[in-house]
Amino acid sequence: MDERLQVNRKNWNERTPVHAASESYDVEGFKSGRITLNSLEREEVGDVSGKTLLHLQCHFGLDSMSWARLGARVTGVDFSDAAIELARSLDDELGLGARFIHSSIYDLADALDEEFDIVFTSYGVLCWLPDLDGWAAAIYRHLKTGGTFYIADGHPSMGVFEPSESGDMLPAYSYFYEERLFEGGEPSYAGSQIIESPVYEWQHSLGEIVTALIGAGLTIEFLHEFPFSGYRAHSMMERGEDGWWRFPERNDSFPQLFSIRAKK
Ligand SMILES: C[S@@+](CC[C@H](N)C(=O)[O-])C[C@H]1O[C@@H](n2cnc3c(N)ncnc32)[C@H](O)[C@@H]1O
Repeated sequence: MDERLQVNRKNWNERTPVHAASESYDVEGFKSGRITLNSLEREEVGDVSGKTLLHLQCHFGLDSMSWARLGARVTGVDFSDAAIELARSLDDELGLGARFIHSSIYDLADALDEEFDIVFTSYGVLCWLPDLDGWAAAIYRHLKTGGTFYIADGHPSMGVFEPSESGDMLPAYSYFYEERLFEGGEPSYAGSQIIESPVYEWQHSLGEIVTALIGAGLTIEFLHEFPFSGYRAHSMMERGEDGWWRFPERNDSFPQLFSIRAKK
């Protein structure tokens, strides 16, 4: 495995128990029957009952098992051993019948020889991937002809701005492809505990994302952009009653989330 991915896997193994204990993942609520998916992806993916669904970068499986609760036959994939171990133990406890595979997306063809009706991935996924052509090839490889690929993720414009001391958002990073190494010593997006290990992130422009999917052979049905975020990307953001996070001012002036649906 690429050395940078090994660094990231260690980081995700450290984050997993912190996330599992956090209020935002609310594992106890999930055990009581909560569906963790948003109305956006539920509506845009459509009815999954009886369909086979491959969930890429499934973390410890709450969204995967939510699709199972909605009737899909689910396979989740993640490269973090801690995340897959926890996903399997939650699924055993709850009897939801999801299957979890421990693999990097880039090595998935070695671990899985199947095609699915739906390939799904969401919220905080592309920034951990150095190479989108390899990602799109894995999607194409594991999708049935006529099958649906769906992604909802943070919009690339969110990777550009940082809040200044006065609270204004200022451009701090490139919009275009860039590798970034963060040294650790910061809390994750869920839970307050410090994550000590370093992590690589990659910025991908919207053009790069769409072009990778087209280049792999997929046909794009829609690309939607939204002026709210699926997570608290900056400390000043507030959560609305609809569950989405927004900036307190001028919150509708730039895209913070996108979704794409494509067919093979
Ligand atoms: C932010 S989480 C996904 C979030 C998911 N929507 C959730 O909230 O549960 C990102 C996941 O990507 C996984 N990941 C990062 N790089 C990966 C790779 N190359 N192959 C497979 N999984 C990877 C991490 O282990 C982590 O579980």
